[in-house]
Amino acid sequence: MKKKVLLMGASGSGKTSMRSMIFSNNPASLTSRLGATIDVEQNHVRFLGDLILNLWDCGGQDAFMDSYLSTQRSVIFSHVGVMIYVFDVESREMEKDLEYYRDCLEGLSQFSKNANVFLLVHKVDLVREAERNTVVERKVEELEKASGETPVKVFSTSIYDESLYKAWSNIVNTLIPNARNLSKHLRIFAEACNATEVILFERTTFLVIATSSHADSSDAFPSDPVALHALDPKRYERTSELIKAFKQSCSRLREEFRSLEMELAEFTAVLDEMTKNTYVLVVVHDPVIETAAIRMNICMARKKFE
Ligand code: GTP
Repeated sequence: MKKKVLLMGASGSGKTSMRSMIFSNNPASLTSRLGATIDVEQNHVRFLGDLILNLWDCGGQDAFMDSYLSTQRSVIFSHVGVMIYVFDVESREMEKDLEYYRDCLEGLSQFSKNANVFLLVHKVDLVREAERNTVVERKVEELEKASGETPVKVFSTSIYDESLYKAWSNIVNTLIPNARNLSKHLRIFAEACNATEVILFERTTFLVIATSSHADSSDAFPSDPVALHALDPKRYERTSELIKAFKQSCSRLREEFRSLEMELAEFTAVLDEMTKNTYVLVVVHDPVIETAAIRMNICMARKKFE
């Protein structure tokens, strides 16, 4: 199954940087060396088993944008599964950015009515922390207004923290056909392991594919107020970011990352391969449960998740 993902936005807003970090495992520090994208750069990324993401990174210089919106219109906007539009939080040409954005929305409504639209208020690291929330809230309001009747999801992102992983995990989740089913199986698996939480990651990107927590609540064990407060709402994207950084360190040492085990005073965690394309993280707060037992459970659950 092939899903087309359009990555659009003004030149220099950060599209290629985020693509290279998520899909090519490049560190943020190397993104300043990227040149401007000429016309459209297409990439096919095998995501899960049969799901192939067909990424269209559309160079954002005006001449290219004008051509996407005129002569290339039907080619660009046909068969789109998701459009991600990136706005530089410090853009000095917001009016022009919005004009192009509205035209892209129109293109989608003509050629891909059911496409999901994600908007990223990007480079938020450039805004002083004290002002960040206010600035982002103002931008979100502005973007929702510009989107009119089109339902959009807005995320604030930066390549220098975990926010990028949160946004992209949400984006790819809309493209995974059996995401709900996966969560159901993970819940059953979590119960079998007496785990606080189980999280499934895609193997190369380490984006979160499913969790054992309910989709509409980011908290495991919602009935247990102690556990509720103990779990960090950013834990998913933080884990993606940390593991990717760790994998990069491993590859610099010419070592291949396989699995991880942590036994801390408060909890035990095991990260191991679940299927060819996924990793699973099992977090257990019960001190009686040994990591070997968790590994054994993962081993026995593999067939179910293949
Ligand atoms: P075109 O290819 O011309 O359309 O540009 P682009 O949108 O692909 O921009 P690109 O990814 O090349 O990024 C431009 C610059 O922005 C690079 O120097 C990046 O290092 C920088 N950049 C990208 N993301 C961030 C971010 O989150 N914060 C900051 N401070 N800089 C960023």
